[in-house]
Parts: sequence; C-alpha cells; structure tokens
Amino acid sequence: MEQLIVAIDGPAGSGKTTIARNVAIMLDMLYLDTGAMYRTVAYAALKDGVDVSDFDKITQVFENNTFDFKYCEKKKKMQVFLNEEELVNEIRTDDVEVAVSDVARNGIVRERLVALQRKISKKEKRVILDGRDIGTVVFPDADVKIFLTAKPEERARRRLKDKKLPESEIKIVMKDLLRRDKIDSERAIGPLKQAEDAILIDTTELILEEVINKVKELIIAKK
Ligand code: DC
Repeated sequence: MEQLIVAIDGPAGSGKTTIARNVAIMLDMLYLDTGAMYRTVAYAALKDGVDVSDFDKITQVFENNTFDFKYCEKKKKMQVFLNEEELVNEIRTDDVEVAVSDVARNGIVRERLVALQRKISKKEKRVILDGRDIGTVVFPDADVKIFLTAKPEERARRRLKDKKLPESEIKIVMKDLLRRDKIDSERAIGPLKQAEDAILIDTTELILEEVINKVKELIIAKK
C-alpha cells in the first residue's frame, strides 16, 4: 500500500487539532500535532530560564533535555514527553502561548522538529499532520492539503469556550491570536501560508461535524 499523507495547516484557533484528531480516529490514521512539538520546546525553554528571543541560546534546550513525541494507539492521541515525563496541560498555558511563536521562528528548532516530523511519519502508512508549514515545507508532496481558516472573532470565541473563559475576555484572546498569526506568517522560515494546491475551508459558519465530514470526504476520495 502506498503512503498517504494529509497536511492540515491554518492559523491559531482554526480548529485544526480537533479536526485532525477526530478524522485520524475515524479513518484509523496516525495523527501528529506538530504545534504540540513546538509548545514542548517552548515549555522546556521557559523551565530552563532560557530567553526565547535569543536565537543561539535555544540550542541549549536541546542539549539539556530529551524530547520524545509519539502517537498513542490505545489513547488515540499524540503524546509529548520532556525528559521522559509526559506533558499535557503544561504546554497549553498562557506563558507557553506567549513564548511559542518566538521559539517557532528559530531555524534550529524548525530544522530539528521538521526532521522528526518526517521521520515519525515515514514509519506509518497513513498520517495526518496539522501545523503551519506542513503542506509547504514538511510535506510539499502531501496527497491531501487542507488550509483551515475562520474569522478572527469566531476563532477567539472558540478559544474562550475551550479555555472556559468569560465572554468579557474576547478582545484579549483575539489580540493574542492575531499577534501569533502575525509572527507565524511573517517569519522567514516555514511561515504560516496556504500552499498553492491546498483546499481552503473557511469554518466560520460551519459546525465541527460539517468540517470533519468535508475533510473525511477529501481524504476518502484520494484513498
Ligand atoms: O497549533 P498550535 O497553536 O498548537 O501551535 C503552537 C505554535 O507552534 C504556533 O504559534 C506556531 C507554531 N507552529 C509552527 O510554527 N509550525 C507548525 N508546523 C506548528 C506549529
């Protein structure tokens, strides 16, 4: 059987992770949450007190820590380990969210994580990856490329719901999403960008099931 690679890219809060994970479970595919990998490196940098804006210092984070990323078939989810300890909520904090875009701008970090993403994927027949540069850099020849987006207000609203925050915080959440979009799209290496041959799905007016079904149909049509 040929390998099947599905690349799902898009801005923060567009629903990539939820959609990719659900579709992977339904179609029995391996799922790689590449954002979780960047978040783990950001968490490690914060833990070690490394200034994330100092490009050279970030290599120390790789020297001083061990990272492991894998898909747990039993739990049907991607797991990240720092020094053999699994991180779950630790990589979803505000501090990590503030630091991660700077970490993800770093060429050394990107080179290492992209190499790992390719290595993990090569072992599997059918893989879904979600991120910012999957269809453009990690797997430019992916069989299915999808770019998910939604209006900033809707993305912020979904974030509020996920994080159980009050409606009054919508402006702060939206500001943070737009700040991350800007850094992610303007960086020199692997910027957030829709691949020319990616299918754009605007999920602003769609419910989760509709998006899942659309993505599933696109993959099944390729199988
Ligand atoms: O998808 P997410 O919010 O978990 O991603 C966290 C950060 O990681 C995001 O701000 C940009 C970065 N990222 C990246 O640069 N490239 C990827 N393939 C995935 C995420």
